[in-house]
Amino acid sequence: MEAVIGLLFMLLGVSYGVITHCDGRQDGVQCYVALGGTVDIQLINSTSEIPRYQLLKDSLKILAGRNNTVISNAIEHRSLIFPSNGTFRINDLSRNDIGKYTLETFDSDGRKSGERTLYLFTQGVETYCDDRQDGAQCYGALGGTVNIQLMDSTSEIPRYQLLKDSLKILDVRGDKVISNTIAHRYLIFPSNGTFRINGLSRIDIAPVSSVLLVSECLSQGEMRVSCSSEGGDSPQYSWTLDGRTLTDAELLPGNNETNIITLKHHISGHLVCSVKNNVNSVSKEQEISTCVE
Ligand SMILES: *[C@@H]1O[C@H](CO)[C@@H](O)[C@H](O)[C@H]1NC(C)=O
Ligand SMILES: *[C@@H]1O[C@H](CO)[C@@H](O)[C@H](O)[C@H]1NC(C)=O
Ligand SMILES: *[C@@H]1O[C@H](CO)[C@@H](O)[C@H](O)[C@H]1NC(C)=O
Ligand SMILES: *[C@@H]1O[C@H](CO)[C@@H](O)[C@H](O)[C@H]1NC(C)=O
Ligand SMILES: *[C@@H]1O[C@H](CO)[C@@H](O)[C@H](O)[C@H]1NC(C)=O
Repeated sequence: MEAVIGLLFMLLGVSYGVITHCDGRQDGVQCYVALGGTVDIQLINSTSEIPRYQLLKDSLKILAGRNNTVISNAIEHRSLIFPSNGTFRINDLSRNDIGKYTLETFDSDGRKSGERTLYLFTQGVETYCDDRQDGAQCYGALGGTVNIQLMDSTSEIPRYQLLKDSLKILDVRGDKVISNTIAHRYLIFPSNGTFRINGLSRIDIAPVSSVLLVSECLSQGEMRVSCSSEGGDSPQYSWTLDGRTLTDAELLPGNNETNIITLKHHISGHLVCSVKNNVNSVSKEQEISTCVE
């Protein structure tokens, strides 16, 4: 499977003082919270129901309690638990709080009696992207969520992988996720083939931002020109001279699709290097004159 996905970003603000209620008493709940705000996560009806419990964020233990007593709380300075209604309140939410939470409960003999997960997602722009056709372009908002529909349903596909550039980010066999490098901020829905990525950052993709063109004369009067781009994911380069594709008569054997070309001697004109990726295209031009031998 080949997925070509480009995400373009806009900046979103941060909201303060927003309280979100999140009922985590069922497995797999997804809650949307505002960065800078507060979330009340109801983990259980009352902590006195269970002899011992712990809450993991991704795989890190952040909270542990025994009946109504808190044993440890890694984010004590900005969170608290209300034992009477089993609610865990986290204030001043930051990006690090976004992700997967697992509540593990234990019986009085210390054996695990239950496990539930919930996901905290950042509120904000949520976009949908249909990638069932090759080469789809998707737009996401920085900090927001994108739902990428990869297939109609993944349940009939024995195995698939999703690559970002050349890096494998997801590998699924049947219903089992074998590896996944962005585990803490993704969710996959096999029933409708949708891959959800939350908390989009510039790492997820970046547009080409600026292009630099540098030329230098070589000893035989040839000119080497390099074109470099900043910030772009999977950039593709193309060149024109006076508005047309460079020919073999002008170019030293090499590649007109790489970022460095060598022009034969006596070549001059209006040279343009264009850099594009799935998000955008930026070009840079320069008048070049013959190198003096
Ligand atoms: C928690 O409370 C809800 C409604 O208040 C109830 O339906 C549910 O059974 C309770 N859960 C447990 C484990 O007691
Ligand atoms: C929790 O503690 C209360 C007293 O503080 C006790 O009545 C209750 O039985 C305890 N619950 C469990 C599950 O141990
Ligand atoms: C739990 O109790 C606290 C303190 O009384 C209250 O502020 C909060 O709203 C309650 N949450 C739920 C879900 O009842
Ligand atoms: C896919 O399923 C999930 C869970 O049922 C749902 O939240 C999501 O909106 C669905 N997406 C599409 C594109 O149908
Ligand atoms: C590269 O050159 C070949 C012919 O030499 C031409 O067919 C092709 O379109 C050129 N590619 C670009 C990106 O300019």
